[in-house]
Amino acid sequence: MAPLAASVALAGILFALQAVGHGRNGNAPRQATLACDAGSFASVMPPGAAVEKVAIVAEGGNYGEGMSDEAYPWIPTGLPGLCAVTVRVQSSPSSSFRFGLFLPSADRWKGRFLAVGNGGFSGGINWIDMAPGPHNGMASISTDTGHNSTALETSWALRNPEARTDWGWRAMHGSIVLGKALVSAYYNRPISYSYFSGCSTGGRQGLREMQAFPDSFDGMLVGAPAWWTTHLSNWITKVGTYNFPVTSPHHIPMALAPFIADQVRRQCDPQDGVTDDIVSDPLNCTFDPAPLLCPPVHSDPTLPATTSDPCLTPAQLTTLRHIYADYRSPTADQLIYPGLTLSSEPQWSLLLGDHTDPNATSPSPSPFGTGYARNFLLDDPTWDWRRYDDALVTLADELNPGHANADDFSSLRNYQSRGGKLLLYHGLADGLVPTKGSLLFYNKTIDAFGGDIQAVTSFFKLLLVPGMQHCFNTDAHVQAPWNFGGATQAGAMGMGEWSVPGHRDAKHDAMMAMMEWVERGQEFKEVVATAWNQLWNASSGERRQRPLCVWPGKAVWDGRGDVDDAGSWRCEGL
Ligand SMILES: *[C@@H]1O[C@H](CO)[C@@H](O)[C@H](O)[C@H]1NC(C)=O
Ligand SMILES: *[C@@H]1O[C@H](CO)[C@@H](O)[C@H](O)[C@H]1NC(C)=O
Ligand SMILES: *[C@@H]1O[C@H](CO)[C@@H](O)[C@H](O)[C@H]1NC(C)=O
Ligand SMILES: *[C@@H]1O[C@H](CO)[C@@H](O)[C@H](O)[C@H]1NC(C)=O
Ligand SMILES: *[C@@H]1O[C@H](CO)[C@@H](O)[C@H](O)[C@H]1NC(C)=O
Repeated sequence: MAPLAASVALAGILFALQAVGHGRNGNAPRQATLACDAGSFASVMPPGAAVEKVAIVAEGGNYGEGMSDEAYPWIPTGLPGLCAVTVRVQSSPSSSFRFGLFLPSADRWKGRFLAVGNGGFSGGINWIDMAPGPHNGMASISTDTGHNSTALETSWALRNPEARTDWGWRAMHGSIVLGKALVSAYYNRPISYSYFSGCSTGGRQGLREMQAFPDSFDGMLVGAPAWWTTHLSNWITKVGTYNFPVTSPHHIPMALAPFIADQVRRQCDPQDGVTDDIVSDPLNCTFDPAPLLCPPVHSDPTLPATTSDPCLTPAQLTTLRHIYADYRSPTADQLIYPGLTLSSEPQWSLLLGDHTDPNATSPSPSPFGTGYARNFLLDDPTWDWRRYDDALVTLADELNPGHANADDFSSLRNYQSRGGKLLLYHGLADGLVPTKGSLLFYNKTIDAFGGDIQAVTSFFKLLLVPGMQHCFNTDAHVQAPWNFGGATQAGAMGMGEWSVPGHRDAKHDAMMAMMEWVERGQEFKEVVATAWNQLWNASSGERRQRPLCVWPGKAVWDGRGDVDDAGSWRCEGL
């Protein structure tokens, strides 16, 4: 792990920061001590940090950077009155990062701080995910992670260890430290509670920060974390090699994914006890792929098949088995990364579909994997996935580019012993970051606590979300409840949304449940998730609600009530 002192510039900032919030505690009036203008913020900025912009946002107003923020062009609307600040921080002689800050008006601020995460390799301030913060009485921050790019772009990392370090952990940590100091200076009050919310790379960022700096947060919402960067990134290329090249007999075109998904649903949905299109327990489904095999059968078996009826050849069936299988090191037989779950098929095109790659001669697998190999590991932008070798995993572990892995399990004790709380959730139909990676994280945590499950459950709750894809969303054929206040979920519903539309309470919004846990010691065993008739349209009427049960609990139907009503379900087996 890179020591903080490795960055002289950042260490200087952190030192200077000690002064910013000092001597300002006590019974301060509920009035901002700093005016919402650039001069005021400049006057408290430590060396190496500079105010880029300060803007007053009126009650009900909008704020964002639009298209100059390529990764997060969405502009949240209907904001509470707030002060929006953008800061740039020098992180090394050759690198810098930016972060954005939403400071709700002093009468709306409840003493809370919120840091939100990013996604993929996105380099940009995530304004849309910051928006729920001020609605919850929180001052919120987001960093651009030290570069400017969309989620799939990695060329910024080529031969650039400082940029990798910013992305790996330094931009998030520096933004939290300076962000917190600015928040206390602005309100002239110390922060009472600090929170985190992020999914995917965002989940990794939160876990990485918590492992190295256990005092950063009191409560964390971590979704589908890409926590094991050195392994996950290589697994992404590996799973691509199973399905490429597209001209080979073993290739499964993504046009066949719905056909496979349908067969999985037919077999696994009834096995979970309720036939409702949702595969609720894919980890415990016995799936027989034989019905997929050619020759095809007509969907009505009494009729002869036609040439348009789909089927898989034996070679394609082998590919299918590989996709679900764990990736194990062939030499040491060690787990490198777990495979995808049954029911993830509708989202497979992200990793198994064709990507246009200007540096490859034919369609290629996901740039999430190839970009990592080219620009983080090998410094070779022309490297082609055909050169993938299992030894890249060993190389990645040796180089550990940017020290991005959140795999320091022994450090979780530090977070637990200071009272920190963690809610980790993962969609069971995630087609990008395998769900079982979160179970692995949970298992490794229990191992690090010497098998003391009680100590783990006292601070760490895991929720697996049936039918939810990566971070949010559900397949149209499944319509699983997927919105419970996780990162990116409000923004998916609309630019002016926050929390769960129609259900802004701790029963339905995991961040509110977390606040109750942290601030009032109120435990919870479930969070109720919601889906609407039209995927992202809260006015279209509610389709379903169902409890998500804290692992290893499972939602059990009462056998009588409406299966689409959360009241007909009970969490059992906790
Ligand atoms: C990010 O890059 C884009 C495209 O090159 C540019 O338009 C934009 O201004 C940049 N944004 C920032 C914040 O530098
Ligand atoms: C798996 O399913 C079987 C029967 O379908 C059931 O008896 C068993 O309890 C389930 N196991 C888990 C871990 O849910
Ligand atoms: C392709 O290679 C060139 C240099 O050869 C590099 O600048 C560029 O970023 C690469 N593109 C991708 C998508 O990796
Ligand atoms: C986690 O541990 C449980 C119980 O030992 C085991 O059944 C499961 O396979 C493990 N999962 C992963 C992904 O390691
Ligand atoms: C959302 O649903 C409402 C009610 O059905 C409908 O009137 C409206 O057009 C929908 N909005 C969109 C964007 O489809």
